[in-house]
Amino acid sequence: MKIDPWSSTTYQDYARLRDEFGIDEFDDRLIKNLPNPNKLIRRGIVFGHRGYDLIIDSIKNKKPWAILTGLMPSGKMHLGHKMVIDQLVYYQSIGAEINIAVADIEAYATRGYTMEETKNFALNEYIPNYIALGLKPDKCRIYFQSKNSDVKDLAYLLGKKINWSQMQATYGFTGSSNMSHIFSPLVQTGDILHVQLKKYGGNKATLVPVGVDQDPHIRLSRDVAQSYRLYNVTKTKDKKIGVFVKVDENIKDLLNFAEKKLKQMGFKKLKKITDYKAIYIEDAKEKDIKYINVELAEIEPKKGGYGFFQPSATFHRFMTGLTGDKMSSSKPESAIFLTDKPEVAKKKIMSSKTGGAVSLEEHKKHGGKPEECVVYELFLYHLIEDDKELQNIYTSCKKGKQMCGMCKKYASELMEKLLKEIQEKRKDAIKEIDKYLS
Ligand code: TRP
Ligand code: SF4
Repeated sequence: MKIDPWSSTTYQDYARLRDEFGIDEFDDRLIKNLPNPNKLIRRGIVFGHRGYDLIIDSIKNKKPWAILTGLMPSGKMHLGHKMVIDQLVYYQSIGAEINIAVADIEAYATRGYTMEETKNFALNEYIPNYIALGLKPDKCRIYFQSKNSDVKDLAYLLGKKINWSQMQATYGFTGSSNMSHIFSPLVQTGDILHVQLKKYGGNKATLVPVGVDQDPHIRLSRDVAQSYRLYNVTKTKDKKIGVFVKVDENIKDLLNFAEKKLKQMGFKKLKKITDYKAIYIEDAKEKDIKYINVELAEIEPKKGGYGFFQPSATFHRFMTGLTGDKMSSSKPESAIFLTDKPEVAKKKIMSSKTGGAVSLEEHKKHGGKPEECVVYELFLYHLIEDDKELQNIYTSCKKGKQMCGMCKKYASELMEKLLKEIQEKRKDAIKEIDKYLS
């Protein structure tokens, strides 16, 4: 199995996906650390993560951290896209700094739009929706990939540590792939890491909330971030904890610099071996590795490194389309667009694929399957805030007391309210755009 960020495959079995790709579970231990978690988070729709501990550490220790994510301005925004923005709105409410890339280069390279078209999608569709969904201008920056030279420069520079075999293996590029497409993961790596440049406040933990299709980009960015580090902190084969200098210049100076830091941190039994480019920390335990690693990353810019923190990511599930497969802009009947008229949305909901039994009698007798029901999914992801109310629908459905007709009607009403609200807010949003654009 392979995750392809540009295809439209659906991933039903998220636990399997998680195991296969070494994504960690986004479990209660993490959720417990978040104030008033958003429904996507508390309901397990955000099902996996990489390196989220760094974010929790930053929140706990009141250290600065950033969020960066991006969307391709291509076509219309639907409920699936809304999930990313809902998470941003939540994180903004707990004080995070928000950065959003308008992935116009990627949309141009992979979707065949002209740059003019991507700009129109961004300014008339995507950004007004971000604002209408509740993003505030304070500590929020939206930028176009094509207009940010820091991002583009990083893309070029970071490309030095990535070779063609790696790109082929990760993305399945072939001899006929176009170069802009091949380059777009590097631009995304530039997006993700540029917030750690000095100009943007320096190196820090960075969270990238995305759909799981983006995992290849996340892995690439994490690998690149790590490969630019000056120091590596690990446990060696003979079970010693060591700091190793990864570069070939300035070794003595870098060792002394790290040694000083380690002493400040309170470690006493340090054994420096210049020939091995190493300092062994005899009084360190395995659990200290992460902490030492972060402390050293923080000071690397003083020695000319980037000192990138490996970007953290969360992965959310996709929305099932109303037709039963993936929600996709290219199949309008599968998606509810944020610009759909309530009547249109209602029609789509009314003809959607539920988890109801084949006949009314069967349904009453054996109950329905809310876990395979797209109407229930609408409640779960978007329409019902109250967990108890949701739970009631779930159990009534299972017991055969809740009928699909009732659900569809209720979902249509709630959807009408939601769409009207968004559409109302979007009118004012268009005038506000400048407050967000960098
Ligand atoms: N590749 C993402 C998509 O397909 C868009 C994107 C561009 C992005 N840059 C990003 C996502 C940085 C997360 C972080 O929609
Ligand atoms: Fe879905 Fe509601 Fe029907 Fe249950 S009763 S299967 S939740 S539509």
